[in-house]
Amino acid sequence: MTDAAAKVLHDYHLDVPPRQEVFPVKGAGHCDWGMQNRMARLFNPKSGNTVMLAFDHGYIMGPTAGLERIDVTIPPLIPYVDVLMGTKGAIRACLPPTMQKAKCIRVTYDATVLYDEMSNGGGIACDIENAIRMNADCMAVQTFIGAPGESRSLELLARTADAGARYGIPTLGVVAVGKQMERTEKFFLLATRVLAENGANIVKSYYCEGFEKVAAACPVPIVIAGGKKLPEPEALEMAWRAIQSGAHGVDMGRNIFQSDCPQGMAAAIGKIVHESYTPKQALEVYEEIRNKG
Ligand code: R5P
Repeated sequence: MTDAAAKVLHDYHLDVPPRQEVFPVKGAGHCDWGMQNRMARLFNPKSGNTVMLAFDHGYIMGPTAGLERIDVTIPPLIPYVDVLMGTKGAIRACLPPTMQKAKCIRVTYDATVLYDEMSNGGGIACDIENAIRMNADCMAVQTFIGAPGESRSLELLARTADAGARYGIPTLGVVAVGKQMERTEKFFLLATRVLAENGANIVKSYYCEGFEKVAAACPVPIVIAGGKKLPEPEALEMAWRAIQSGAHGVDMGRNIFQSDCPQGMAAAIGKIVHESYTPKQALEVYEEIRNKG
């Protein structure tokens, strides 16, 4: 039966202008649809920010405190975060393939903590085919600016970013802070910019004094790592300061899974990142969940 016979009228919406959206992730306006679609799974389109949960520590540190059993610790936190960041081995073995959240796979390896110096540059632990097979939304590459592994790690970053661009998978460049690297505004200004200019679509770094300049000078979103476990109010304060200074989220591990209430911390961080809660308001969220037991 034809449309005319069915009396269905065509409507070309001639009074409606064509859809023209400004893509909400910093530095990703030029990317193609697939890359933007994955970016929109990483970054909440409303807040423009993300809560990534990092549990990749075992790749150099073995069974880190709190991650002795990833299959026990991490799945209960999935509802509270936007992205799960781990190695291919841990994600495959410990997370349910039915989960709907985004995955960031750490695709490089480094020497373990048994060696005094981990910053030699490592190699590829998960190639692009494996990342695609695992339906990765993002690939993370550790880089060592100002250390012996600098050249090697930048090569791995650039190659990963090129492969990611080919298949529409964003690359997260991780600024490592080994023994030889400073933790100054000057260092982070240099390191974050070098990673972005060598192809990282997102940069993971650390909060520092003068972070607003670091964020402003980086053409792609910066997410901050948490670092060693802090008392909960201090970790929330750091996340809040970072967001206020221009970070687009966190990629936090120990300050969530080593907390006495990981779910409470994940929820509280989410409120800071997506809903502009103050550290005090976020602490109340954490305490409420912790007190419920
Ligand atoms: C970085 O290289 C680590 O493997 C972690 O992904 C990162 O440090 C984030 O975790 P945390 O917040 O515990 O520092």
